Amino acid sequence: MQLPFAESYKIKMVETIRKSRREEREKWISAAGYNLFNLKSEQVFIDLLTDSGTGAMSDRQWSEMMLGDESYAGASSFYKLKNAIKDITGFEYFLPTHQGRAAENVLFSVLIKEGDLIPGNAHFDTTKGHIEYRKAFAVDCTIDEAYDTTIEHPYKGNVDVEKLEKVLRENPPSRIPMILITLTCNTSGGQPVSMENLKQVRSLADKYGIRVFFDSARFAENAYFIKTREEGYRNKTIREIVHEMFSLADGMTMSSKKDAIVNMGGFIGLRDEETFRKASVFNILFEGYITYGGMAGRDMNALAQGLYEGTEYDYLETRVKQVEYLGNRLIEFGIPIQRPVGGHAVFVDAGRFLTGVPREEFVAQTLAVQLYLEGGVRGVEIGALLADRDPVTRRNRFPKLELLRLTIPRRVYTNNHMDYVAVSLANVFERRTHITRGMRLIKEAPIMRHFTVELMPA
Ligand code: F0G
Repeated sequence: MQLPFAESYKIKMVETIRKSRREEREKWISAAGYNLFNLKSEQVFIDLLTDSGTGAMSDRQWSEMMLGDESYAGASSFYKLKNAIKDITGFEYFLPTHQGRAAENVLFSVLIKEGDLIPGNAHFDTTKGHIEYRKAFAVDCTIDEAYDTTIEHPYKGNVDVEKLEKVLRENPPSRIPMILITLTCNTSGGQPVSMENLKQVRSLADKYGIRVFFDSARFAENAYFIKTREEGYRNKTIREIVHEMFSLADGMTMSSKKDAIVNMGGFIGLRDEETFRKASVFNILFEGYITYGGMAGRDMNALAQGLYEGTEYDYLETRVKQVEYLGNRLIEFGIPIQRPVGGHAVFVDAGRFLTGVPREEFVAQTLAVQLYLEGGVRGVEIGALLADRDPVTRRNRFPKLELLRLTIPRRVYTNNHMDYVAVSLANVFERRTHITRGMRLIKEAPIMRHFTVELMPA
C-alpha cells in the first residue's frame, strides 16, 4: 500500500481553546458591532481570521529566543538575521522593521510621491493604503482569470503583461517608481505567480527602465507552487527556486509574520546602496535604529531560524496540503470556492454562496457572521468592506469578488479542526436560501475601515 500523507512535525506544547453556545455568540457578535475584529479571542473556537503572526514557532525558534542579543546597536542577532536574509534571498542590504506594513511605509517614503502609479498584480490592502495615503495609485494588472473563481488556472497571481505594458507605455517612467508584485497574491486568493511571469515582468521593467519590487510575505508558498506546478522546477529545491525568484527583483518588502513563521517582524531587502541609505533615515525615524528597526534581538533570532524552516520542502508540503484539505472538504459539500485552492487560505466565493443578499449589504461580511454564529469559527471578509471607498469620489468600491477568507495559521490546527470548519460552513450552505438580508454600516473610518467598522443587520 502507498503510505498516506502525514505532518512533518509533532506537537510539544498545546493551548486550550473553548467552544461556546450559539446564544452566547449571538450576544457577542451583536456587542462587537457585527465586526469579527472586535471579538475577544476567547469568544472564538477556531480562529481563521489570518495566518499573520498566528503560527506556532518551533522548538528551535524558541531556543533561538534565549540567545537573543539585546544590544541597541550592532547586536549579534542583527548579523544573524542579515546573514540568513542574504543566504535565502540574495539581498545584500536589509533593514529590519516591526512588520510588513512598516517596511512598506519606510520604502514608500523614499520611492513614492503624489500622482505616481504602482502597477503590479493585486496589491494587499495595507500596501494599497500606503500608496493611496501618498496620493498615488495602485494599478491592478492581474490576469482576468483570477477573478473568476470557477476557472482552474495554476497561476492566478500572474500579471497580465499586456495590461502592464499599457501602463508603462502610456505614462512617463518618472511617474512609475516601481512595479510591485505580491507573492503569493493574497487578494486573488493566495494564488501563485509563475517564474515565467516574473521573468516577463522583469524584461518589461528593463525595457522601460522601471524597478521591480516583491511584496514577499508568502514567497516560500509561491516557490512551493512553482516547484509542484511549473515545468522545469520539479527537481529544484525550494531554496534554489527562491533564489531565482529574488534574482528578478531590485528589492523586497517582507511581513515575516507569514512565511517566516514568527509572531512579529518584517524587513526590507535591497540591492542598491543608495536606496538603502535613504531608507535608513526613515527607518530610524519610524521604526528604530537600523540594527533593530522595531524588533527585539530575540525576535530577529527567531526570524532568522524561521526563514530556514519556512523554506523546507517538507514543512511547506504539510502546510499547503492542510489548506488544500479544507478546500477539498468544502468542494465535496458543493460550496463555491476560489479554484484552485490557494497557499494560505481557502477563499469562499460569498457572491455565489449567498445569491440572495444585495451587494450593497456586504455579502461576504454577512457570510462571515453566519459562519461565526454557526460554529464559533472566525473568518475574514475580503469584499466591499475591505475595498473601502474610492479616495476621490468617496463612493463604495465593489470589488469583482465577494470572498470569505478562511486563513489557516501555520502548524496550529489539526485536520479535525478543518473538518469542524467544513461542516460548520456546510450547515450555513444548507440554509443559504433563507439568508436574504445582509448588513448596513453604522460607523466607519476614512481609510482601512474594515478593522473598526460597526454594522447592524439590514
Ligand atoms: N503584504 C501582504 C501580501 C500581506 O498579506 C500583508 C498582511 C502585508 C503585506 C502587511 O504585513 O501585517 O505584517 O503589516 N496580511 C495579513 C493578512 C494582515 O491577514 O493577510 P503586516
